[in-house]
This record gives sequence, C-alpha cells and structure tokens, in this order.
Amino acid sequence: MIKLDISKALTSAEEVAAMESRVYEAQKALEEGTCPGNDFLGWLHLPSGITAEFLTELQNCAQIMRDNCDTVVVAGIGGSYLGARAVIEALGNSFQWLTNKGENPNILFAGNNIGEDYLYELTTYLQDKNFGVINISKSGTTTETALAFRLLKKQCEQQRGKDMAKKVIVAITDAKKGAARTTADKEGYTSFIIPDNVGGRFSVLTPVGLLPIAIAGFDIAKLIQGAADMEKATATDVPFAENPAAQYAAVRNILYQQKGKKIEILANFQPKLHFMNEWWKQLYGESEGKDLKGIYPAAVDLTTDLHSMGQWIQEGERSIFETVISIETPEHSVLFPHDEENLDGLNFLAGKHVDEVNKMAELGTCLAHVDGGVPNMRLIVPRLNEYYLGQVIYFFEKACGISGLLLNVNPFNQPGVEAYKKNMFALLGKPGYEKETEAIKARL
Ligand code: PA5
Repeated sequence: MIKLDISKALTSAEEVAAMESRVYEAQKALEEGTCPGNDFLGWLHLPSGITAEFLTELQNCAQIMRDNCDTVVVAGIGGSYLGARAVIEALGNSFQWLTNKGENPNILFAGNNIGEDYLYELTTYLQDKNFGVINISKSGTTTETALAFRLLKKQCEQQRGKDMAKKVIVAITDAKKGAARTTADKEGYTSFIIPDNVGGRFSVLTPVGLLPIAIAGFDIAKLIQGAADMEKATATDVPFAENPAAQYAAVRNILYQQKGKKIEILANFQPKLHFMNEWWKQLYGESEGKDLKGIYPAAVDLTTDLHSMGQWIQEGERSIFETVISIETPEHSVLFPHDEENLDGLNFLAGKHVDEVNKMAELGTCLAHVDGGVPNMRLIVPRLNEYYLGQVIYFFEKACGISGLLLNVNPFNQPGVEAYKKNMFALLGKPGYEKETEAIKARL
C-alpha cells in the first residue's frame, strides 16, 4: 500500500490528534450524504462499485479504437481531461511518441485551450493519420471542447469516411442533456455516461479516465483494484491514525488554519508525474478555493525546478508547505557511469543506480526545506504502475472531500468557473448575452 509520512510536517502528535473528531464528522457527513454538495458524492464508492462487465465493455470499445486508429485525440478540459493525461503520462514511456512502433495508438489531447496555432498544428499533424476522437464533456457545452470537436469530427469524416468515423468517434457525456449527447445520439456514436453525481474533477475513475487509459494500453482493472483497496484503507471505520486520507486532510488544515501556511506545493522527483501534479492542482484548487478561503495548490517537478523555484522554496516567504510524491522503486535500471578523466569529479558515484542519487537529492531537499521552515509530508508509492496509481488517485480524492469539509466549504461545486465564461460570451456577442455585452463594453 502507499503510505503517508507526516513525521516532518512540523505538527505535533497532539495537534494532529486534536483534529480527530472534526475529521470523523467530515467523513461521516460524506458517508451519510449530509454535507454540502451531497448530490456529487458518486465518486465515494465508485471503485468498489465498478463491475467486471462494465470494465469489459470499456475494454471492448478500447479495442475497437486500438484496432482502427494509430492516433486518438481526447477532446476535453479540466476534469474531463486531466486525470486521463496524468495516468497515461505517468505510466507511458517518456518517448512513446517518438519510438512507438504501432503497438499502441498515440494519445493526443485537444479541447483544453483556445490556441489557434495549437489547433492548426494538431489538425495539420493529423492529416495523414488514421485517427479517432473521444469527445468528453459532462455538460456537453464547454466551448474549448466543442470547438476542438467540431474541427476533429469534420476532419475525421473527411479523411476516414462517415462509416469509419462513426466507429472511431466516441462520446463520454451526460445521459440526456447537452450538445455532445445530442450529436452522439444523432450520429450513432458509441457513448458512455458520466454519472450525474460525479463532478468533473472526481471523474477519472469513470469512462472519462478509464477509456483513454485503456486505449493507451494500460490495465484499467488494476487501476480500479488499487483505488478499491484505497477505498477500504480510508473508510470511516479505519482508525484515524491509520487512515492516510484522514491524516493528510488533518495536517494540511492544521498548517493552513493554525500555522499560516497558505500554499501547498506538490513535488515529484519523476518527470512522468508532471500531469499528476496538474490533476491534483485542479482537484484541490477547484474543490477548496472558494468563499475567500483555500490552500493555494502549486506544484513543482524536481529536481528540475530546484534550479528555478528552489531558492523561493528555501528562503522565500514562509507561507508554504510541501507534499512529495516519492516513488520507491524505478521500473528500469541505469547506472552512473565511470569516466577515466573524472573532470566533473563525480566518479565517487560511478556504479550507483541513478535512482539512488535521485533519492539522496529527495532526502537532502526535504531536510533542507524542513530546516528552512517548510513543513513536509511524503506520500510513499512503491512503484509507478496501474495498481498504485489507482491508490494515489483515490487517496487524494478522499482526502480532498474531507479537507474541503474541514475548511467549511462545499468541495463539490465550482461557481467561480462561470465568471470568465460570462465575460467571454458577452465580449463575443453570444445571443442572449446582449445586456452583458453592453455592460462589459462600457468598461473597456
Ligand atoms: O471539475 C469540473 O467540474 C470542471 O473542471 C469540468 O471538468 C470542466 O469545466 C469541463 O466541463 P465539462 O466536462 O462539462 O466540459
């Protein structure tokens, strides 16, 4: 199992123990569905509720895409994209896209920005590809995704013909409402439903994440098994001291509410985890940042960013704490080479595993940061595989639900996300926004 080490979190055992009853109340409220946002608790027992039949249905769809596509574009934004990307990049070969000999389709992502050059370059790249598309949108009306999907649908139909396009375009959306549902039904696409009671950022263990992950060639049954085991390990009846999600939620709230730590930095020492950071940022940022409250979720890739953000973390304003995702064992072996001339003076490392050097960098960094007044938590993950990633995902989700309730916010809504859309539509003159258009133009 993954483990949480809070021994360097600069919180005393008494401070943590004092949180137990509040954490228990939060867990109970989640479990009994009495908390704010209780219509969005479908994620809570998702892993244990997924059936083998449903996984087979997803795997069958993935196989059709794998048989018919060399490239699959996942169109989605926020919760409708970050989880899949996080898992695919964490498990994939860093050079997959240059070295892939056709054993797996390349997975590309679109619909997560409005970059004209990005879309030009993507559609140009796809011109000689046998590509398929997964259109993922819970609301089915998100502009970024709808724009990309319009372009990709047309291109896929033109390049591959209507019949093949029907086979290789899949929709993952609401059961009834939204443009993505209407199009899927009208065109006869295979489609999967995002359950009503699962919000975007908690949806990676639904078809939103599972289908792209399966298409990329990874074992979604193991991912779900890992998540289900973590569901058990973080259940309400697990003693507080043994429940990693409860401990993490408690410590981050002590640091925020009692010790003035307003920013949490999620750090990894594996470049493949960059998009896990991004997924985590969305999960915590969108869940907790409201009512003028919330820990600001930041992230760094180490040791890379020690050469950019290291100075700030070590000696900047003392308003931060750090959580490190630490992978215990790498999947491959590379030794530090011996060099006759030893001009860099590094022969003392010759013959050591690169990971041993990385681990000492991790330990040294942690101690330096703690000495510099940065509380540190460490999430220890035995290996970077489907099973443990499933645990990591559920661990962070469960802790996020508890943590948001400790903060007294509704962790499951995101009212603030609408503000930019309203302005954008007003500026673009969307029909129905006439009043807003007039008001915003007066401000320019
Ligand atoms: O967490 C959320 O709910 C959001 O980030 C959504 O996932 C994001 O806005 C995309 O929405 P939709 O799936 O409706 O296109």
